[in-house]
Amino acid sequence: MTDPKLTVVVSSEKIQTRIRELGAQISADYPTGDLYFICILKGACFFLTDLARAMKRDVSLDFMGISTYGKEKSSSGEVRVTKDLDISIEGSNVIIVEDIVDSGVTLNYLMHVLDQRKPRSIRIAALLDKPERRLRPVHVHYAGFQIEDRFVVGYGLDHAEKYRNLDDVCALDPE
Ligand code: IMP
Ligand code: MG
Repeated sequence: MTDPKLTVVVSSEKIQTRIRELGAQISADYPTGDLYFICILKGACFFLTDLARAMKRDVSLDFMGISTYGKEKSSSGEVRVTKDLDISIEGSNVIIVEDIVDSGVTLNYLMHVLDQRKPRSIRIAALLDKPERRLRPVHVHYAGFQIEDRFVVGYGLDHAEKYRNLDDVCALDPE
């Protein structure tokens, strides 16, 4: 897929190398006990499947749907759970797997929601982080790449449901 509006920001090779490092790091941090990866749909699904396969230990998976953005490129500030977990996380080690932390509104809200369910521990793994844009505090324990303030697509990230299946993370320039 070549598109004149797209510029590669993080290549597929860099993504895969970094995910192997993160998988090794998370595996070392959780040598025993149960571990749940909670994938935030839909953007994090590619990151989840690659990260889970980079793990050196067993990991359980579940999915959560959150809506913040409509077709706009900026957050409406409203967060809604559109699909909840199938499992109880009480007493479990949980890692939220997210594609990108932008304003922090989504993850700040989600940490609050999931904390009330009394997990044993909870951390965040995010492939991308745009720290300049932060409005709410979020501690990203496992961050793939910090990127500058540009709207990006690919490797799960979309614009109006397009471009998710690109191998690379690319900046989408306005037409
Ligand atoms: P936040 O609540 O502002 O941190 O937004 C987080 C969510 O917004 C992410 O899970 C993405 O779905 C979406 N998002 C933020 N920045 C981008 C971007 O550059 N491209 C695509 N989606 C983005
Ligand atoms: Mg998302």
